[in-house]
Amino acid sequence: MFIYLTRAVPEVAIDLLANALPDARIEVNPHDRNLNRAELIEAAAGCDALVCTLADPIDATLIEDLGPQLKVIATYAVGYNNIDLQAAKNRGIAVCNTPGVLTDATAEIAVGLLLACARRMTEGDNLTRQGLFTGWAPLLHRGHGVYGKTVGIVGAGRIGKRVAATMKHGFGCRILYHSREDHVDWENELEAEKVELGELLSRSDFVSLHCPLTPDTRHLLDADMLKLMKPTAVLVNTARGPVVDEQALVQALREKRIAAAGLDVYENEPALAPGLSELENAVLLPHIGSATMETRDEMGRMCARAVIAVLTGQEPAHRVV
Ligand code: GLV
Ligand code: GLV
Repeated sequence: MFIYLTRAVPEVAIDLLANALPDARIEVNPHDRNLNRAELIEAAAGCDALVCTLADPIDATLIEDLGPQLKVIATYAVGYNNIDLQAAKNRGIAVCNTPGVLTDATAEIAVGLLLACARRMTEGDNLTRQGLFTGWAPLLHRGHGVYGKTVGIVGAGRIGKRVAATMKHGFGCRILYHSREDHVDWENELEAEKVELGELLSRSDFVSLHCPLTPDTRHLLDADMLKLMKPTAVLVNTARGPVVDEQALVQALREKRIAAAGLDVYENEPALAPGLSELENAVLLPHIGSATMETRDEMGRMCARAVIAVLTGQEPAHRVV
C-alpha cells in the first residue's frame, strides 16, 4: 500500500499511519513548498491514499492521473472547495476532511483580526517600531470600540457560531446572521437575528465571513455589496478568499468607504490583489486560521484515521463523499 502526503504534517499523523499500516509505503513531499500538477502526479501516481491540503487543486484530471488504486483522499482542512467531489464519487473514492477540530482556532483568528482592525493594532505596532510614538496624546491613533456594537456573521456553521458567541458573551455585541437555513439555536442562545445579506452589511459594525466557498458564494461580497457597508465598518475574512472580490475590496479600503479589513485568506492565494499590501487599514495574515499546535496535530490525526479506516475496509468518521 502506498500513501502519499502532499506536505509535511505533524509527526503524530505519520506515527499513527505507520503503526496501523506497518507494511505501507508512506511518502511525504520533501520540499517546503506546494507541488505543481506534474510534480504531484510524478510523486503520487499509483497511491492508494492521498493526504492533500487546501492548496492542492484536486480536479478530475488529477484524480484520473493518480491511477485506479486511489481509494481515499484525506484533505488536511475543513474546507474542500479545491476537490472535485463528483469526480471522486464517480470513481468510488472517499473524500474525508477535518471538521470541528479547527473551530476554536479559526474563531480566535477571526476575533483577533476584528479587534486588530477596530483598534488599529498593526498600524500602531508599525508606528511604535518606527519611532513615531512621541508620547501619549488624546488624539493619538484612535480606533473604534467593539463593546455593544453589531456583528454580522455570514454563514451559520460551527466557526461562525463560535465567533458569534464570543462577540455576544465577551463583548456584549448584538448578532445578525445570514444563512440559507434557519438556526433556532442562534436565536435562542445568542438572541441573533437572521437577516438578508444586504441588511446585514448595512447594519453591522463588524462583518465576519464564515461560509464555505461554493459557486453561490464566489464574490458574494462584490463591489455593490461592499457599498452597502458603513464607512466605519470592518470586514473580516477567515473563510475563503474568493468569497470577496479582492480588487473591489482594495478599492473600498483605499477610498475609506469601509474602515478596515482583516484577512486571513485571499482570492488567489498566496498572491495578493495589487495594492492590498500597501493599505494601512488592512491586517493581513498568511492563512493561519487553524494554525495552532493543538489543532494541527488533531487535523493530522484525523487525516491519518481516515486513511487507516478506508484502507482497512472501515467507514471513515468524516466522509464528505
Ligand atoms: C482551512 O482553511 C481549512 O479549510 O481547513
Ligand atoms: C467549520 O467547521 C464550520 O462549520 O464553520
